[in-house]
Amino acid sequence: MKTYRIALLPGDGIGKEVIPAAVQVLNAAAKGFTLSYEPFEWGCEYYLRQGRMMPEDGLEALRPFDAILLGAIGHPTVPDHISLRDLLLKIRFEFDLYINLRPVEILPGVETPLRDKRPEDVNMLFVRENSEGEYSGVGGRFKRGTPDEVAIQQSVFTRKGVERVIRYAFEQARRRPRKRLASATKSNAMQYTMVLWDEVVREVGCEYPDVTVAQYHVDALAARMITHPESLDVVVGSNLFADILTDLGGALQGSLGLAASANINPLERRGPPVFEPVHGSAPDIEGRGIANPIAAIWASAMMLDNLGEPVAAARIMSGLKTVLAAGQVRTPDLGGKSTTQEFAAAVANQVKS
Ligand code: NAD
Ligand code: IPM
Ligand code: MN
Repeated sequence: MKTYRIALLPGDGIGKEVIPAAVQVLNAAAKGFTLSYEPFEWGCEYYLRQGRMMPEDGLEALRPFDAILLGAIGHPTVPDHISLRDLLLKIRFEFDLYINLRPVEILPGVETPLRDKRPEDVNMLFVRENSEGEYSGVGGRFKRGTPDEVAIQQSVFTRKGVERVIRYAFEQARRRPRKRLASATKSNAMQYTMVLWDEVVREVGCEYPDVTVAQYHVDALAARMITHPESLDVVVGSNLFADILTDLGGALQGSLGLAASANINPLERRGPPVFEPVHGSAPDIEGRGIANPIAAIWASAMMLDNLGEPVAAARIMSGLKTVLAAGQVRTPDLGGKSTTQEFAAAVANQVKS
């Protein structure tokens, strides 16, 4: 029987609560193949003990796995720019996982803050650039702590980097019934990076005459997600723009606890893909057992799909939808009283049945 090797990186805060929940559902879905897990206890507690977020050879330890399932990184005890850059961003960048796929869909039975909108009205797929842009980490600080202090944070947009994410987004749009692509830009104010971005959208678009392209300034696009969500299908955006838009997407889904993501490199393998919730470690609710595990469960379904197990992935999604539609079991962020564990058990039972 085929065995997939999964590296588990629960991380910090509610990451440690939602990953075991997702594993319970994954185990219920594993039929005709086996999942073998190896946990890695890296994160802020590890940093406080060891002075680093992961061992020096951490990336090498992860490389042989078929996939990584990650919870969330970040805790108030460690500055975020250290914890995130030295672990999560390091994995994304070093493994060149240049696509971050983030579906935004309303699931049955879940109330959305959008009045009168139903599952059939909201079905977006965000394709976020995940390897450069505003997150390149190029810059520095000068005359630190003086009145003349200067901080510079450079955005880096390469033609190669822009082209590959935009091409991937066109491919996704082509495969979907509506075949629409919206590009998030801000070329009215950013005359170098975003003008290059727009040019590449036009150039690559010539190869996809079957896809309808629209370009929106990112501010107007944020508004459009609320006023005309049904007009959006695939949305492509830079690292920062799509980061911000997809938290808005999570809110439209009814809770940040629903938004899932896949970090992948569809062209070449420099390391395993990473599947994770969009949300963070939620220190405000950690340790209470009430975190919504849906994003981690959905990310697990995306992982199975990516591993080549679409039937098991679909079973997870349909189990999740059945439990939500029944309206009995849900966590407090969705107005319920269930714990993380109770919700995961309900989905796992449904997936098994
Ligand atoms: P957050 O996503 O952790 O939390 C924002 C709000 O959403 C909080 O009120 C939280 O309780 C709620 N929330 C998030 N996930 C939830 C869930 N599954 N169920 C119920 N409620 C949920 O964002 P933040 O507060 O800005 O960040 C907290 C920490 O997480 C910071 O250190 C940040 O840098 C980090 N972070 C990490 C990741 C990641 O690892 N991928 C992503 C985002 C933020
Ligand atoms: C996300 C997170 C990360 C990001 C942070 C924690 C670095 O917000 O995965 O959306 O901005 O990519
Ligand atoms: Mn984010």
